Amino acid sequence: MFERLQQKWKVNGWRLLLILVTFAVGGSLCGYLGRQLLGLFDIESAAIRIPLYIILVTILWPFCVILISIPTGQFNFFRSYLRKMGSKLKVQSRESRVQSQNTGHTLIQKTHQPSTGSVPATGHRTTAVRIAIFASGAGSNAQKIIDHFRDSQSINIALIVCNKPGAGVLGIAEREHIPVLLIEKEPFFRGNGYVDELKAARIDFIVLAGFLWKVPATLTAAYPNKIVNIHPALLPRYGGKGMYGMHVHEAIIAAGETESGITIHYVDNVYDNGAVIFQATCAIEPGDTPARLAQKVHLLEHTHYPRVIQEVVAHLQKQR
Ligand code: GAR
Repeated sequence: MFERLQQKWKVNGWRLLLILVTFAVGGSLCGYLGRQLLGLFDIESAAIRIPLYIILVTILWPFCVILISIPTGQFNFFRSYLRKMGSKLKVQSRESRVQSQNTGHTLIQKTHQPSTGSVPATGHRTTAVRIAIFASGAGSNAQKIIDHFRDSQSINIALIVCNKPGAGVLGIAEREHIPVLLIEKEPFFRGNGYVDELKAARIDFIVLAGFLWKVPATLTAAYPNKIVNIHPALLPRYGGKGMYGMHVHEAIIAAGETESGITIHYVDNVYDNGAVIFQATCAIEPGDTPARLAQKVHLLEHTHYPRVIQEVVAHLQKQR
């Protein structure tokens, strides 16, 4: 049961414990305050006391758990938990309204749809946009992106796609309870580019974070303007085949550059070629090594990539 909760809430064992403690202490506080408030009214009849107590604790409960979540460090979790509960209640009440209008019909018109992130006919986006992160390295960018969207209502990191068994990012996926799709060269380049698997996983948007294979045309056609990449240099310089990770930093230091940076861009079928979305720079000091430059660039990546992804996805949704 605890494992299922960990998977559902995407938290580690320690956080699960803190969440359960918050539920328990918040619930007890709520019961205590409910009894104290009830004591203020001089009501003898149990027929009134019991429903009034239930109403009081229902109102008090969210305040109590939010209050307790502050010292336990779980405020963000409970804020999004209560929001989700609130929107579920709204959906249910809308459904029951529809049901009562449809007298003679047992079919309930769902006001929400499976998580496709698409705009339904009503024009309202109903569920979170599902992102797949493609990564084949240590996964430090993937981790930052996961952290950034952990409590998001509108974006869900739904899948890690990796072509390297043993890559560090796979350990992150396991810890974060995010499903993994391990891909192979042949089906990726000569098959359907795993489009069917991505569609089956209801992926709406793709983020490359240290993914070194070229993206095939089947995939860019299936996700037009919905694939972004981060490159550890200021494109169009120091890009293209073979220019990845430390190779980029080594080439930049060898060329005696005084500046480097990051480029976030849309992905097309040519290496590091799609339209640039965002760039940020860092200075190269005399004596900087490729390893030192890699650290500076990673810092820029971690600072900007999650925020830029959020903005690109929001922009995409507005266009629909
Ligand atoms: C990042 O620096 C990313 O820019 C680079 O790989 C690194 C992955 O680090 N990507 C490329 O070079 C793509 N051409 P991470 O695994 O720690 O996120």
